[in-house]
Amino acid sequence: MEIRSPETEEEFAAYYELRWRVLRKPWGQPSGSERDELDAAATHVAGYDEAKRLVCVGRLHAVETGVGQVRYMAVEESMRGRGLGQAVLDELERLAKRQGMTAIRLDARESAVGFYQRNGYATEGEGHTLFAVVHHSKMRKQFAVSNPEEGV
Ligand SMILES: CC(C)(COP(=O)(O)OP(=O)(O)OC[C@H]1O[C@@H](n2cnc3c(N)ncnc32)[C@H](O)[C@@H]1OP(=O)(O)O)[C@@H](O)C(=O)NCCC(=O)NCCS
Repeated sequence: MEIRSPETEEEFAAYYELRWRVLRKPWGQPSGSERDELDAAATHVAGYDEAKRLVCVGRLHAVETGVGQVRYMAVEESMRGRGLGQAVLDELERLAKRQGMTAIRLDARESAVGFYQRNGYATEGEGHTLFAVVHHSKMRKQFAVSNPEEGV
């Protein structure tokens, strides 16, 4: 498994196609609906298997000073439960810290709340409902302060 940012036009096309297929297509949403205006400036992470096939994706963007938001986490259906989602989230958190972020918030689909809880995210309340049926919870993780005196 190789975890990195997509680089070429083809890799980005595959990246958005997986995002669409997992997070939009099952609800009848058209291709293109998986993108938003923040993609241009966001941090993108993708995982490739030994055959260089894309198997998982996730995105980080800045929402306010020191706070990032993780969105569009998606693992190829046949590949779930093998640590791929974990690898994407670990990498997004590593990059968030490198960008000086001290916390991440996200809106978790109810079906994924346990995944984020296991990773130290706490539920902060109810979130939005997507496509009238996909309920979300607001979750947040504060990174541990490595040196309390320096506050970093
Ligand atoms: C949610 C998702 C990203 C998790 O990725 P994954 O590759 O299946 O998860 P992993 O194998 O990396 O799991 C890591 C750990 O979290 C646990 N976990 C995974 N999904 C979980 C869930 N839905 N509820 C509770 N725990 C979960 C695993 O058991 C594993 O724990 P372990 O190490 O103790 O065995 C993936 O299932 C997915 O793409 N789902 C559909 C799209 C989606 O809902 N995206 C999130 C939108 S907010």
